[in-house]
Amino acid sequence: MRPLIVIGNWKLNGSLASNESWVKAVCKGMEQGMPAGRMFALCAPFPYLSQCEQLIKECSLAFLSLGAQDVSAHNSGAFTGEVSAAMLKELGCKYVIVGHSERRQMHQETDELVSAKALQALDAGLTPIICVGESADERNSGRETEVVCGQIARQVSVLQDRLADCLIAYEPIWAIGTGKVASAQVAQDMHKAIRLQLAEFNEDVASHVGILYGGSVKPDNAVELFAMPDIDGGLIGGASLNPQDFLAICQA
Ligand code: PGA
Repeated sequence: MRPLIVIGNWKLNGSLASNESWVKAVCKGMEQGMPAGRMFALCAPFPYLSQCEQLIKECSLAFLSLGAQDVSAHNSGAFTGEVSAAMLKELGCKYVIVGHSERRQMHQETDELVSAKALQALDAGLTPIICVGESADERNSGRETEVVCGQIARQVSVLQDRLADCLIAYEPIWAIGTGKVASAQVAQDMHKAIRLQLAEFNEDVASHVGILYGGSVKPDNAVELFAMPDIDGGLIGGASLNPQDFLAICQA
């Protein structure tokens, strides 16, 4: 049985003051009881990881952890501005997002770079959350499964069995930050296609890998999405900024 995992992606948001009240509010809500067997995390901007790690430690909930939003494909050296997986691990991260569509689009990240980042994360003992997803044009021209399965195939070719230690996030680009959520059935169909594609490589990996859905998840659509057999949780952007909405999604 795969656990349900809900991860907040704060993107370029936060401040020392708002982070503190967010973590305190979420911890307080979670202490009142959460459904068993679930895992939660927040992916904060790099400069706030240390602060968030400290705040999360103070509330000592085993099921709440920390993640980052990106990682370098290199482990050290002359790479100005980069942050290594070992540094993230040292700061208390458990997860790191790689290949988010915003990075693929705005920073020209390729599947090759994404798998190099995932390998760095795995080598440091982090769980990479590998994002895949099609654009509106790709879906409108009926190519969505081909595009997403192509992204998965390129990860399989590099990561192989190590995919068992990764999470995948299916995030259709047209649903990110737009309020246009994929219907639960549309999301389920793609999650199933991803799992079938993984099963062609290795049945064991396919049945173990958690596949999260991301794109305009809100408290009022999370229940239906999370009830789908191949949807193992969510990667939450906008709605994760509000602690009460995040809590409601975690309870969905
Ligand atoms: P959203 O973002 O929930 O604001 O659509 C999701 C994501 O980009 O991870």
